[in-house]
Amino acid sequence: MTPDTGAAPHVARKTTAGVQEFPEAKGNVSTRHGIVVLDFGGQYTQLIARRVRELQVFSAILPCTASLEEIRALESVGLVLSGGPSSVYDADAPVCDAKVLQLGVPVLGICYGMQWLAHTLGGKVVRAQAREYGPAHLDIDAKHTSTLFGGLPERLKIWNSHGDHVIGLPEGFHVTGRTDNAVAAIEHTSRRCYGVEFHPEVNHTERGRDILQNFVFEICGAKKNWNRAGFIAATVDAIRKQGEGARAICALSGGVDSAVAAALVHRAIGDRLTNVFVNTGLLRRNEFEETLALLRDRLHLNVIGVDATDRFLAKLAGVTDPEKKRKIIGYEFIDIFAEEQRKLIAASKDGLPVKFLVQGTLYPDVIESVSVKGPSAVIKSHHNVGGLPDDMPFGLIEPLRDLFKDEVRQIGRELGLPEEILIKHPFPGPGLAVRILGDITREKLDTLRGADAVVVEEIRKAGLYSKVWQAFAVLLPVRSVGVMGDGRTYGNAVAIRVVESLDAMTADWSRLPMDVLERMSVRIVNEVPGVNRVVYDISSKPPSTIEWE
Ligand code: XMP
Repeated sequence: MTPDTGAAPHVARKTTAGVQEFPEAKGNVSTRHGIVVLDFGGQYTQLIARRVRELQVFSAILPCTASLEEIRALESVGLVLSGGPSSVYDADAPVCDAKVLQLGVPVLGICYGMQWLAHTLGGKVVRAQAREYGPAHLDIDAKHTSTLFGGLPERLKIWNSHGDHVIGLPEGFHVTGRTDNAVAAIEHTSRRCYGVEFHPEVNHTERGRDILQNFVFEICGAKKNWNRAGFIAATVDAIRKQGEGARAICALSGGVDSAVAAALVHRAIGDRLTNVFVNTGLLRRNEFEETLALLRDRLHLNVIGVDATDRFLAKLAGVTDPEKKRKIIGYEFIDIFAEEQRKLIAASKDGLPVKFLVQGTLYPDVIESVSVKGPSAVIKSHHNVGGLPDDMPFGLIEPLRDLFKDEVRQIGRELGLPEEILIKHPFPGPGLAVRILGDITREKLDTLRGADAVVVEEIRKAGLYSKVWQAFAVLLPVRSVGVMGDGRTYGNAVAIRVVESLDAMTADWSRLPMDVLERMSVRIVNEVPGVNRVVYDISSKPPSTIEWE
């Protein structure tokens, strides 16, 4: 992973290493005396940094391979060692310089971070018999009054995602918490060295925030030195510098991310920004027309609407592999933006080059799409990241690349965007293509749009739209036997997916009221031709993902 300040704006695809100071940032903003997160490749690394930012403390992410000088340069008051997909015994297991444990600042190892800590200091780590994914209970050891767990009850619901366990402690350490299966928390109090095998940074860990807060303030003694106004000012300033003397095209998706990205870039370069909204033919029912009106009339954005349904569907014909679908869509998007770029250049009177493509890429899009040495396994290529060709005719401006959806919503609110767009459910760039399992046809798209419209309508009617993260339908490549009237049917099956989440990194299925589910099911079978069976998806993330492809 590219060295990352964890809070500095990303105005180019490749960020520069190290930390920037933001002289024009408003508010009490400093990039020193924060918390450094060393990345071992975990899915949640950025989430740790973001939790620290929420405590108004600066946080920087560095790869685990960062040199001691790079780490020292940040003058941090504490270190967090992130999780990661490896086992400490893997031949290519990521490691950091063991001298980080002698920097004189407190250390918190999370998951792999704790295993690396234990292994490096002479403890024993083994591959567990029972792997732990998803929820578990932590029993905090009552005999030891750990500052890390100060103010917390003795039993907490936690979130795990690991296969190895610590079974032998390094000298001077003691156990401060257990699950039914394993040692879950250890510490060496006088050395100020802590380890937790679960993930306090994910929302599904009860009081996880308090655990991090205890580490940041009580153990590391950090002072509040970071805020959101500072982020906006710094981002606008950085984009202004980067975009000097050039024009940019913004890829609007109709969702909150690209709208906020457009608003930030508009603030920085004004009318030199042109927005493009593409109808891929993979949008929800009426989405193209309604969103175009919203962007133009409510956001007052200068938007070009491009109907590219035929070309997307032609390229996708017969394609069943999810990754292929994503890449095809990503490439097609870039082709369209390149065409718009040529048109703008041809029409331009000032001769300024159209140099940049602005995207509302978020951190979860990045982390699940990139694979760097040691770090995060590719989960799926989000079209606006993994699916991009190498030879793009643009530089990228991705001001939200370090952020999560709810942070983006808050920034949008601060920028004055209408609530209607801020509360909109996320919708993936590849659209319904990743919700039709198997090949995509116009007929299947119609079926899915019908079922999807019912799901969203019923969620709205039940007053649940802004309470859930996403609500949608998925068309399964399954046909089953049913009976309608007096006749046998052999029809399609639709899955309803409704999840709760705060950042899409973890999610749980919504415990919807039975009558809402019933109305959805009855209406889908009655109103959508060809569907005779409806199922409800009760999988959490992990181990599943939110989208089915
Ligand atoms: P998963 O399925 O990975 O989804 O759990 C996490 C969140 O990201 C959205 N998503 C995407 N967003 N381009 C996007 O802009 C994509 O390719 C993409 N794939 C998934 C998904 O809807 C969920 O909110």
